[in-house]
Amino acid sequence: MNMFDLSGQKAIVTGGASGLCLSAVYGLHEAGADVAIIDIAKDVEDVARNIEKNSGPKVYGIRANLGKRDELKNAFNQAVEKLGGLDILVNGAGIQRRNKCEDFTEKDWDDVLEVNLTSVFLMCQLAGRKMLEKGKGKIINFASMLSYFGGYTVPAYAASKGAVAQLTKALSNEWAQKGINVNAIAPGYMATALNTQILNDQERFNSILKRIPKGRWGTPDDIKGLIVFLSSDASDYICGAVIPVDGGYLAC
Ligand SMILES: NC(=O)c1ccc[n+]([C@@H]2O[C@H](COP(=O)([O-])OP(=O)(O)OC[C@H]3O[C@@H](n4cnc5c(N)ncnc54)[C@H](O)[C@@H]3O)[C@@H](O)[C@H]2O)c1
Repeated sequence: MNMFDLSGQKAIVTGGASGLCLSAVYGLHEAGADVAIIDIAKDVEDVARNIEKNSGPKVYGIRANLGKRDELKNAFNQAVEKLGGLDILVNGAGIQRRNKCEDFTEKDWDDVLEVNLTSVFLMCQLAGRKMLEKGKGKIINFASMLSYFGGYTVPAYAASKGAVAQLTKALSNEWAQKGINVNAIAPGYMATALNTQILNDQERFNSILKRIPKGRWGTPDDIKGLIVFLSSDASDYICGAVIPVDGGYLAC
C-alpha cells in the first residue's frame, strides 16, 4: 500500500514518550519515518532508543518542557537539525488539571492553556514556516471530546481543546492551498495516565463506559492507523478536519 508509505519522511511528535503519542511514534516508525520525540519525560531518550533498536528509521528523544517558550523553540530547532528536515508534525503533548470552576486557580489555567494551546500554535507556526518553503507537509493536532462539550471540573482543558479544534481549521484555511494538511484527532475516553483519576473512580468509569457503543474504553493502539493515514499521501484531500476516534461516543 504505497499511499501509506512514509519511508524517508521526517516527523516530530510532541508528548511521544508515553500514552497515545507513543503509539503515534510506533505507527510513524513502522511506516518508515524518522521520528524526533519532544517530551518533558525524563526517560524520553531511552524511549527513543528502545523504539529504534539500532535498525530501521531513526528515533531521537529530546527532553523539553513545552510550557516554556524558549525550550520549545530550542527543542524544535534541535529536532529539525537531527532529522535533517521536517515533513510531519504531531502535536500530542497535553495536560489536565481538575477542580470546580469556582475554585480553579489562575496557575492551573495558565499551565493548561500554555501547554495545550499556545505550544500547539507555536509548534504549528515553526513547522508551517518550514513546510511552506517546501510546499508540502502534514500537521496533526490533538483535540478531544472536550472540543465538543464542556465536561465537569475541567474548564481550562475544555477551553484549550475547543480552541485547538478552531486553530486547526484556521491554519488549514491559510495553508491547504500551499500543500500543508492541518487536521486534528479527537480521541474519546482512552485509558492513559491523563485519565488516572477517572480510571480510579469505578462509578465514573462505568458511567462513561455505558455511553460508548463500542463497549470499551479506547487504547493508544486505536489512534495509530489514523496517525499514519493523516501523515500519508492517502489523506491529501483531508483539510481542517477534526476526526473523532471515540468508539461511537459522540454519536450516542
Ligand atoms: N487519554 C484521553 O482520553 C484523551 C482524550 C482526548 C484527548 N487526549 C489528548 O491526547 C493527547 C495525549 O494524551 P495522553 O492520554 O496520551 O496523555 P499522557 O499523559 O499519557 O501523555 C502525555 C505526554 O505529554 C507529555 N507532556 C506533558 N506535558 C508536557 C510538557 N509541558 N512538555 C512536553 N511534554 C509534555 C507527557 O510527558 C506525556 O508523555 C493530549 O493532548 C490529550 O489532551 C487524550
